[in-house]
Formats: sequence, C-alpha cells, structure tokens
Amino acid sequence: MPRRFERASEKTAERFLPLRLSRCFIMRHLPVRTMMHALYESSIKSLPLIGRGKVRDIYAVGSDKLLIVTSDRLSAFDVVLPDPIPDKGKVLTQMANFWFGRFSSILPNQLTGIDPESVVAPDEREQVRHRALVVKRLAPLPIEAVVRGYLIGSGWKDYQENGAVCGIRLPAELALAAKLPEPIFTPATKEESGKHDENVSFEQAQRHCDSALAENLRNTGKSGAQLVAEARDAAIALYSAAAAYALTRGIIIADTKFEFGIDDKGVLHLIDEAVTPDSSRFWLEETYRPGGNPPSFDKQYVRDFLETQNWNKQPPAPALPGNVIFKTSEKYKEAYTRLSGLNLAV
Ligand SMILES: Nc1ncnc2c1ncn2[C@@H]1O[C@H](COP(=O)(O)OP(=O)(O)O)[C@@H](O)[C@H]1O
Ligand SMILES: [Mg+2]
Repeated sequence: MPRRFERASEKTAERFLPLRLSRCFIMRHLPVRTMMHALYESSIKSLPLIGRGKVRDIYAVGSDKLLIVTSDRLSAFDVVLPDPIPDKGKVLTQMANFWFGRFSSILPNQLTGIDPESVVAPDEREQVRHRALVVKRLAPLPIEAVVRGYLIGSGWKDYQENGAVCGIRLPAELALAAKLPEPIFTPATKEESGKHDENVSFEQAQRHCDSALAENLRNTGKSGAQLVAEARDAAIALYSAAAAYALTRGIIIADTKFEFGIDDKGVLHLIDEAVTPDSSRFWLEETYRPGGNPPSFDKQYVRDFLETQNWNKQPPAPALPGNVIFKTSEKYKEAYTRLSGLNLAV
C-alpha cells in the first residue's frame, strides 16, 4: 500500500472514534471496514497525474483517456474538509454509474467500459477498486449545467431579489422550496476550488462557450452557442428522467448539476459525475414541506455541525467529530441503496 494511502486511512481511524465511545466499543460493534476504508488522496505512481479537483484525482491513460479516482474528500460551502468520509467515493462512483446506465438512451457519455484495475500497477488496485472510472478524455464545456425543479439556494435568493432565476421569470408568490411549474436550466461558470460558481444567463453561457471552445470547434461546423442549447435540452431531459425515477423511491431531486464535454467532432457527451448527492440536492419526500428549508439528505449532519462552529467558511475548515463522519458515511450509503435498490460494492 502506498504510504500516503496508508496515512490517510490511519488518520481516519483516529478521527473516527466518536467522542464518548471507546475504541473497544467500536471494535466490538462496528465492522472494521467501516472505520478503515477511507481514501483522502490517491497516489497512483504508474500514471501521470493531471490534477486533483475538490473530490477527484485525475490521471492520464494514454493520450485519449483519463482515470478518474473519486476520493472520500467532502467539500462543504466550497471548502474541502480535512476529514474523509469512508466509502463516499465508492458511493459517488457507483451512483453515477447507475445513472449513466439509465441515461444512455438520452445522450452519449464518457464511459469506456475499461476496468480501472487493469490500468494501474498491481499494488495500486486497492486505491481504485469500486471508486474509479476510465473515461474518454473530452473537452469540457466551461459551464456547470444546473437544472432546478424546486426553488432553493441561490435560486431562491435570485427569485426574492428579481422575481426570476438567472433571468428566467417565474410566477409571483412562490414559497421557499416550492416545486417549479417546469424544471429550468440555470447555468453557472466553473470556478477554481475555494471560489463560488457564479450564475449566468443563458446568453452569457453561450458567449462564454463560443470563446472558450473556438479552437475545439474549428472544423466541426458547430458553435459554442449551439452547444449550450444542446446542453440545456439534454440537462432538462436528464433531470426530468432522474427526478421522476427518484420520486418512485421516495426521494426528491430538488436540483442537480451536469457537466458536458465534446469529442473532436463536437458531439456532446455527459462527463464527470451524474445525479450524486455531491452534485444534487436530495430531499426525503416524506419530510418535504414547501415554505421551509428541507434538510439535506446526506450533508445534514456536516452542515449542522459546521453551523455550530465559529468558522468563516474560508479554508481551513474545522475537523469533524467521529460521530458526524460516521453518520454522514451511513447517509451516503443509504442514498445509494435507496435510489438504486442495490448494495454498495466495497
Ligand atoms: N471525461 C472527462 N474529460 C475531461 N475532463 C473531465 C471528464 N470528466 C470529468 N472531467 C473534469 O475532471 C474534474 C473532476 O474533478 P472534481 O473533483 O469533480 O473537480 P471540481 O473541483 O471541479 O468539482 C473536473 O474538472 C471535470 O470537469
Ligand atoms: Mg466536481
């Protein structure tokens, strides 16, 4: 096991001890795996590292593919927390895979079907098992394709100030967390870690893609503006399919963010992740009441804890108590099982 991986696991085990419970209690009552399997940061030496996002570590596989390893890092208020959440990366990867499967008739996606364990050295397989994907290396659109079905978060703020969200006018007198008459596409610019993404109008997103992708689109006969229109239609179709399915499992998907990329012919693909707790707001249908701020299905314990801290939402974030880490890990797994009906592969 590479040293960094080992250290991340040890650190988690230390932090994992709930305040009033002894290590003996934990050993007797919790599966050891639950405590130990956390990956804060991957360390794959057999492939060139391209970069680390807030949650994912990205490596090159040849010139046209990527290995994307989803770590157990958690970001809250756009800041990466110092503690990993055991198995979170496995939940995100398997949930995204579940949706990629359901979405394949709507548009092409990044998947190659290549087993991540086959592209790393034997002693690195543990790091990628059940938490990584080998994907086509595509040119990302420089926007987050946000779709909202409910009025919450920055959408609610915008609505209160302007009666509209990202320039889309909405009926008067909608309550906080109200269901919108139709899902709306509200793009945002992609910002570096630590900065908040900024909502933009549809036309601003089009201009942004026109200039950022001019080179990639040169011989395709397509414009960036056209791609944003395609992305909007795809994002609304994907959200609608996901939201309708999730409701049959008792989960409301209030909003979600997709990322799209293009191949060298300018064909739009779904990339990154899809409809995970990290890219979406999940609410429980049974506790949903318009007019209030429904609790987040997965990050509720983390947010509640952070709100009690005297923290200015700038890095570094405070360390999480063991019980918050444990409950959050359980919530992520519950979200996966509840939505997919499958058990997590760990
Ligand atoms: N198929 C792909 N081709 C190229 N880039 C991709 C692909 N899938 C995901 N990415 C990029 O990899 C990064 C994923 O890392 P992540 O931790 O999610 O980053 P972020 O901090 O931007 O959310 C993102 O920048 C995303 O745009
Ligand atoms: Mg991301």
